[in-house]
Amino acid sequence: MTQPIIKKAVFPVGGLGTRFLPATKAVAKEMLPIVDKPLIQYAVEEAVEAGCDHMVFVTGRTKKSIEDHFDAAVELETELESRQKAGLLEIVRNIIPPHVSCSFIRQSHPLGLGHAVLCARPVVSNESFAVILPDDMVDHETGCLGQMVDVQKQTGGSVIAVDEVPDEDIAAYGVVSVDDDKSSPARVRHMVEKPCRTEAPSRLAVIGRYILQPEIFPILAKVGRDADGENQLTDAIAILARQQDVYAFRFHGTRYDCGSKLGFLKATVQYAMKHPDLADGFRKYLNEL
Ligand code: G1P
Repeated sequence: MTQPIIKKAVFPVGGLGTRFLPATKAVAKEMLPIVDKPLIQYAVEEAVEAGCDHMVFVTGRTKKSIEDHFDAAVELETELESRQKAGLLEIVRNIIPPHVSCSFIRQSHPLGLGHAVLCARPVVSNESFAVILPDDMVDHETGCLGQMVDVQKQTGGSVIAVDEVPDEDIAAYGVVSVDDDKSSPARVRHMVEKPCRTEAPSRLAVIGRYILQPEIFPILAKVGRDADGENQLTDAIAILARQQDVYAFRFHGTRYDCGSKLGFLKATVQYAMKHPDLADGFRKYLNEL
């Protein structure tokens, strides 16, 4: 069987980012930087590393900065050129490799993650595709999506990244039950979105990385809204898992929930300690503290 190749990565970036107000009043939360790169750039770099060459951003109002970030900045480049700032010029020009293209789709109503993914249907069409939630960062030599692409080549079907989380955090996630708790990848039997602690089928929480088959789209188009009026990706994947193989994969690496202030700060500290220009000075500062 020829395994599908994942070329398109969908980034649902229409959310309001209320947890970071007032910082996100006029700035997209995905543009908040971890050290010197915005969250969305880390996510795009992970997709490119995994072999994707078409980035599909599902955006909303106040997200224009994301489009600008991945576009050429002619005035800035001219200015840097005239000041002979070759290093900075290279950074600005290489935000995205030349072979990679971007599409931007507006999600006019905040109707949930499932709805955001469905908005990407006209561009993704009938291909397997990736979904990356830029809030979730995974630090590892091989990016989380790259690891998942390798798994998908072996298993086929859809693959979702999961992490074991403590009982008290389980209600913040989509949670899976699998055929075999001890193995990874393991076939998904069921999925529930944000269950209360007593109803969670396991402690395996879905983090923001998915490789999905296009059969998810007709399911998303039909799946109902939840109590908050949102169309949940989790509900659609639960149905998909009854029709074809969906695997839960325990990725390698450390995950940071950059949608929370604490997670964002932890990621900032870790990435600063690895940053070539900052590592020494920053470690010294932390030791002094
Ligand atoms: C979304 C998904 C949830 C998943 C989480 C990962 O929730 O709906 O299933 O576990 O991302 O970060 P959100 O954090 O957007 O509420």
